[in-house]
Amino acid sequence: MENTLHKLLVAADRGGYAIPSFNYSDIWDFLAIIQAAEEENAPIMIASNPLVVSAISVEVCGAIGRAAMAKAKTPLFHHLDHSISVDMCKAAIENGYPSVMIDVSKYELEENIRNTKQVVEFAHARNAHVEGEIGKIMGNGIEGKFKGGDYLVNVDEAVELVRQTGVDSLAVGIGTAHGFYSGKPQINFERLSEVNRAVDVPLVLHGGTGIPEEDIHRAIREGINKVNVGTIIHCTYMNNMREELIRVGENPYTLDVVKPVMEQIKQVVKGWIRVCMANNKA
Ligand code: 13P
Repeated sequence: MENTLHKLLVAADRGGYAIPSFNYSDIWDFLAIIQAAEEENAPIMIASNPLVVSAISVEVCGAIGRAAMAKAKTPLFHHLDHSISVDMCKAAIENGYPSVMIDVSKYELEENIRNTKQVVEFAHARNAHVEGEIGKIMGNGIEGKFKGGDYLVNVDEAVELVRQTGVDSLAVGIGTAHGFYSGKPQINFERLSEVNRAVDVPLVLHGGTGIPEEDIHRAIREGINKVNVGTIIHCTYMNNMREELIRVGENPYTLDVVKPVMEQIKQVVKGWIRVCMANNKA
């Protein structure tokens, strides 16, 4: 679908970089992520997972997202990450999310196609972008849990999902995992490259946290156009928050604690923007 996000992902593909997508938990990491992107002059996506949307409400997340996108100095796209619910995708789009992910890859292909198609029809009528998923993202992170052996994307199924749904981008199961990796990530680059040759939609890498820079670069060369980063954001946030609270002691004022913590989050976000080579691409 020809909207501005699509153009951004195509530009990343041609330019040999990826659009990073960062997961936020609340207003403070949300703002830190955007400030980092502006300081790096980088186009980014900023994503809320269904836990965050349910806790804050889709109306409030949507309103904050719309305001932030209108105010942003660099290209910014608010995204609903890993929704297993068609209704939540629709509600997000109605509340101004320009991009949603419908993650129903745990179902058989036919069911995945049926759900994805419903979201695509609704989204495309409203100029919104839809990310689907095929194969499975492994791991045990807040964004998803899967420990089975059958995670690898099947190329023919990827082709069918794209053909029958018209989905705009595709998250692929290639061995990456949500949460921290125990050991070096084992990414199946051959399968990634096969999928990339077989479908002409942008491909998305999930489970960014813990993947070494050289593997991210290789994944980008083999067809990845968007890289999702979540765990390291909320862990940087919470771990630094604990340290800062200990440092300041009893009865601190919120902003006195939050501001130095935001600086730490910004450093991590900037690092990832550079790993994705998206700095100065706004
Ligand atoms: P990590 O939490 O492992 O960085 O993965 C994030 C992600 O893929 C969000 O969709």
